[in-house]
Amino acid sequence: MDILIWNKILNPYEIAVREIVYKLDRLKEEYRLNGQYCPIEEVSGRVKSISSILDKLHRKDIPIEKMEKKMEDIAGIRVICQFVEDIELIVELIQSREDMKVKTIKDYVKFQKSSGYRSVHVIVHYKVHTLEGVKKVPVEIQIRTMGMDFWATIEHSLQYKYKRDIPEHVSHRLTKAAEAVAILDSEMSAVRSEIMDAQVSSQLLHHQVEEILFAIENLYTAASKREIQKIQDEFYQVYERKDMNALRRFQRQLDMISEGYRTQAVSEKDRKEPQKYDIT
Ligand code: GTP
Ligand code: MG
Repeated sequence: MDILIWNKILNPYEIAVREIVYKLDRLKEEYRLNGQYCPIEEVSGRVKSISSILDKLHRKDIPIEKMEKKMEDIAGIRVICQFVEDIELIVELIQSREDMKVKTIKDYVKFQKSSGYRSVHVIVHYKVHTLEGVKKVPVEIQIRTMGMDFWATIEHSLQYKYKRDIPEHVSHRLTKAAEAVAILDSEMSAVRSEIMDAQVSSQLLHHQVEEILFAIENLYTAASKREIQKIQDEFYQVYERKDMNALRRFQRQLDMISEGYRTQAVSEKDRKEPQKYDIT
């Protein structure tokens, strides 16, 4: 197989990865704009490198013709979350989508691997449209907490360093570290609702501030410099209090001021422009 054919084979996987990463990122944005807690912290994706594909084919004794049928992780997405509980929410979110069909779920959180590895893997089938037509490709979505991801990244590097033969004293440490991560995850779960509340409040505050600044900016063309200055000073005072209700009230006042200018502008326009009549 030459490089051109590899490109052609991997193209649909590349599209699948890009589309899914984009869609999950947009979802994250939607949660933020709605002021809702988002179970997704970070999304990334990759297409397996040709050398990793060849290594795996060799390791698992898979003939190259069977590659696409047997390898479900050529397209890979990683979704990182803050809490163990978020993993399930993300799985449900994936299950509820119409653009991907869940084929298998491997729960290495409930059933931790002997290495200490924890994550939930969801294999989905995803349709991509290319010039060659529609193609359904498998995509492996790995979902894990930040702690699990930290551990897996370190362990993966060590596997690479020791060519998958990690010495006993190192693997012992890794097992200990995996236990520590599991404890950390469950400690974090205990304060999850408090952290969620704090994050949602801070998101709402940021969003409200953005709206207010946008409204003030819109007033620049209509109001006098002195008035804008006054509004801005008032805004800083309200902002200092970090009180959502006060900020909302301030926003409503701004809306009323803007509305006043709009009405004024419309009536001035009516006065200036002579009435037009249709000559029929
Ligand atoms: P691979 O041949 O490794 O792809 O395994 P598999 O296709 O039989 O599936 P499995 O669900 O075991 O693993 C899929 C992927 O999960 C791997 O490619 C890794 O990204 C990750 N993974 C699985 N086990 C481990 C582990 O012990 N350590 C780390 N760091 N990652 C793991
Ligand atoms: Mg794999």
